[in-house]
Amino acid sequence: MDTKVIICMEEDDKAALAEAGRILQSGGLVAFPTETVYGLGGDALNPDSSRKIYAAKGRPSDNPLIVHICRFEDIYKLVSALPEHEGKLAAAKKLADAFWPGPLTMILPKSEAVPLETTGGLDTVAVRLPSHKTALALIAAAGGYVAAPSANTSGRPSPTLAKYVLDDMQGRIDMVVDGGEVGIGLESTIVDLTVEPAEILRPGYVTEDMLKEVLGRVETDRAVLDENSGQAPKAPGMKYRHYAPRGEMTIVSGEPDRVSAYVNDQIELARAAGKKTGVIVAEEALQDYHADVCKSVGSRNDGLSAARRLYRILRELDEEAVEIIYAEAFESAGLGQAIMNRLLKAAGHHIIKV
Ligand code: TXA
Ligand code: MG
Repeated sequence: MDTKVIICMEEDDKAALAEAGRILQSGGLVAFPTETVYGLGGDALNPDSSRKIYAAKGRPSDNPLIVHICRFEDIYKLVSALPEHEGKLAAAKKLADAFWPGPLTMILPKSEAVPLETTGGLDTVAVRLPSHKTALALIAAAGGYVAAPSANTSGRPSPTLAKYVLDDMQGRIDMVVDGGEVGIGLESTIVDLTVEPAEILRPGYVTEDMLKEVLGRVETDRAVLDENSGQAPKAPGMKYRHYAPRGEMTIVSGEPDRVSAYVNDQIELARAAGKKTGVIVAEEALQDYHADVCKSVGSRNDGLSAARRLYRILRELDEEAVEIIYAEAFESAGLGQAIMNRLLKAAGHHIIKV
């Protein structure tokens, strides 16, 4: 299969988006930008499209997809209308008023319209209304319901640029809509509204405190940050090693001088063993490290910059064939929680305190 690439920086590139919409409506796959990461889209109501998504990503088929919509009212087709679920829909409406369109995904009981192929066999459905203008126009052109996981091969860092989509998906999907670099850089926050109190299954740009302002009580799945919680994460996708670069990655936490001293020692050892080394650190600390490749995530207190740069850095370290990677730990409050969660998964939970 040839993968066609179209450049679409504006939502009103109608001809290009109409073509992409036709591909989706006829069961094909189109990758597209969202405000979080690039998604790999298929018609969410067509079981064959969902099967194709799993095949293109090499993703286990028990790992459900997020259904993307472009207007709030379209949620009613996806969610069970049974009276006992009314409260959940009311909570969804409140969250939508506060955070949609935007980087928040809600889990709700699914209706008959959503095929089990899309939900990985679950009786719940994940729904998101993104804010990216091109994404919204594409979803409308596709008929309103687009299932889209991140557009990476399963286990690799999510793509923040179209060229990373192509690295993973060339020849496997029909089209890539190139809308430039994404804004946030980490996947959406996932909140499960089928439980009381609501529970965050994946941290993201919309933080626990922001959700609490709307819902009152909200908890975070303990397995998300603590590998020793003894529980499997509740979002099936969070249990897999993920976002991982090819190099062997370790996170080092502690006071900055001790961290750089420790990492530099380890780098000397790795170098002596003939390995290419890399670090992922704050801009302020860049000079303190002696690795072959030093990557800055931006200033220490700039979580937005770190979120935007992290996956790109992980892919660049691969491109530069770095074999041993050390990363500074992040504050795990606010957006830092989402960044630390992705770093821990990229490092296979390998963290050292110095
Ligand atoms: O920002 C995002 O959410 C991006 C863009 C493209 O929208 N999409 C994305 O999709 O990150 P994906 O498939 O890479 O991650 C979806 C996560 C997986 O961990 C999956 O297990 C979980 O959501 N999930 C989906 N449906 C679920 C459900 N019904 N119950 C629990 N977890 C669910
Ligand atoms: Mg993903």
